[in-house]
Amino acid sequence: MPFAQPSLPSPSSIQEEKEPENELPQDLGEFLSSLPKDNGWILPHLYQYQGFWHSPNYFRGLHACQQHFQPLDTDIILITNPKSGTTWLKALVYACVNRVKYPPNSQNHPLLTSVPHDLIPFLELELYNELNHLPDLSSIASPRVFSTHLPYVSLPNSVKDSQCKVVYLCRNPKDTFVSLWHFCNKLRNENLGTLLLEEAFDLFCRGVCDSGPYWDHVLSYWQASLEMPSRVCFVKYEELQENPFFHVKKLADFLGYSFSLEEEKIKVVDEILKLCCFENLRNLEVNRTGRLSRIGVCENRAFFRQGKVGDWVKYLTPEMSDRFDQITKQKFEGSGLHF
Ligand code: A3P
Repeated sequence: MPFAQPSLPSPSSIQEEKEPENELPQDLGEFLSSLPKDNGWILPHLYQYQGFWHSPNYFRGLHACQQHFQPLDTDIILITNPKSGTTWLKALVYACVNRVKYPPNSQNHPLLTSVPHDLIPFLELELYNELNHLPDLSSIASPRVFSTHLPYVSLPNSVKDSQCKVVYLCRNPKDTFVSLWHFCNKLRNENLGTLLLEEAFDLFCRGVCDSGPYWDHVLSYWQASLEMPSRVCFVKYEELQENPFFHVKKLADFLGYSFSLEEEKIKVVDEILKLCCFENLRNLEVNRTGRLSRIGVCENRAFFRQGKVGDWVKYLTPEMSDRFDQITKQKFEGSGLHF
């Protein structure tokens, strides 16, 4: 049962809580003070709830989403750990499911003028995170596509009980960690100073990062994909990089948007890959200079850094790499999940 103990304050009573904890409204402050607390990556602290760590400003959205989000069976939900390639997945899925309305080579394709995050919003970070306001999702055209970083345990029961499709994208822990470290230092509260790589590494290994432990997040969705293969599709960033054509076709099949032979002949899949590739998206004006429309503090370019597999070798010592391997082996042992 979600939110058994302790219970969260109601969404409307949670005020703007981007400040340090001592300035939080009383009920959220009390709720947070009942939770385990550790050092944060962007804000001073993270709090552990239902086994996972979140920033204080995450809880309003988490709670409102659990209480109010009602998926339709035709909905598509994209789920990731932060920095696993969410932006890329959003672009690909958006381009696939809207390809009749917006052919991928069209000059007015929305991806040319909007960052993928503005086309596919986060449930808990954006839609359900507005103060005193629940979103009206009824006018969104089908298929509605949403995204979330929620761990499986915190996913609304309405999602678990529905027939909507879930795509989970995971990325190897080393690249995810390095990407997260760069990203968080860009957004980090100035007063906190730079988060050192070693400090971040220790936190990540202990599971203390937004939506962490990384390994538990991945594993729970891996298990869900094994139990419900027609509902949960598990994709690896590295495999998507290695054979994007194959995996995008597979994804489209899973979502019920298979490419026809005619489409393949006129190279629609290739056009989608070209539109959504790292180089193309990163160089678009909107992604070089814009900001997220709903989370204005975040520059779009923060989502496009290297887009490579294996960039971690430039940052991790052999000891750090070994430690990651040990944890991954221990956590994933017997699950059938490998990197
Ligand atoms: P790096 O920091 O390793 O470059 P998220 O979208 O979940 O925030 O993840 C961001 C990571 O995905 C960043 O990784 C970013 O560069 C990479 N990325 C963004 N767009 C991409 C694309 N079109 N193709 C491949 N990787 C992409």
